[in-house]
Amino acid sequence: MGLLAIIGGSGFTSLPALTQIESKPIDTPYGATSASVTRGRLADREVLFLPRHGPSHHLPPHRVNYRANLWALRAAGADRVIGLAAVGGITSEFGPCVLAVPDQVIDYTHGREHTIHDGITGGVDHIDFTEPYCAALRQALLAACAQVGETVVPRGTYAATQGPRLESAAEIQRHERDGCDIVGMTGMPEASLARELDLCYASFAFVVNWAAGKSGSVITMKEIEENLARCVTRVLAVLEAVAVA
Ligand code: HPA
Repeated sequence: MGLLAIIGGSGFTSLPALTQIESKPIDTPYGATSASVTRGRLADREVLFLPRHGPSHHLPPHRVNYRANLWALRAAGADRVIGLAAVGGITSEFGPCVLAVPDQVIDYTHGREHTIHDGITGGVDHIDFTEPYCAALRQALLAACAQVGETVVPRGTYAATQGPRLESAAEIQRHERDGCDIVGMTGMPEASLARELDLCYASFAFVVNWAAGKSGSVITMKEIEENLARCVTRVLAVLEAVAVA
């Protein structure tokens, strides 16, 4: 079996519990990854780690080289990838600090290099994306939450927005009408590229704010950072349990 890889998002430029074995840049046909891929041990199991926004969080969501990142993780031996996702909550179940394993996604991003099936470096192909996330890895995340005693919402439709700005209240109302529960800026094209590369991919989301227009106040980075800090230890405990499973 291949390795479990974790893509860290906001709040996770490193994994404190990871004992590093090696960290090396990987050449890809798509250019540079966000950072070197770290191979290390989490709960004494070998895993790979890649911080999506770079080691010093310098890459905004629309400038992340998703193709290079996913390609490099597969080249380094990954067969499963968990994408960590700090998100805004849209529907009532998804308030700040709620953990969720989304089961659907709607892509509102644009202008991103979103496919390896571009007819240039890769041939023309059309992946099935009916279920955008890997069922086995979603179940592993849910089982790990149960094991460490974390409550988690076992579903949710993720709205992937372009960013880097947050949304207007009307945009969030539209996402809600479309059936979205949570909103983030990095879920796509990460999930579809993983499918194109035959990687089993799941998103592990944690809510860091009510989405625009949902709380009666403006969204501040202070609020987001405070909620992020409250989630980190809980998310790490779940990741360790997944690594061991
Ligand atoms: N919108 C988009 N992305 C986000 C949000 C949000 O409210 N919170 C965290 N990531």
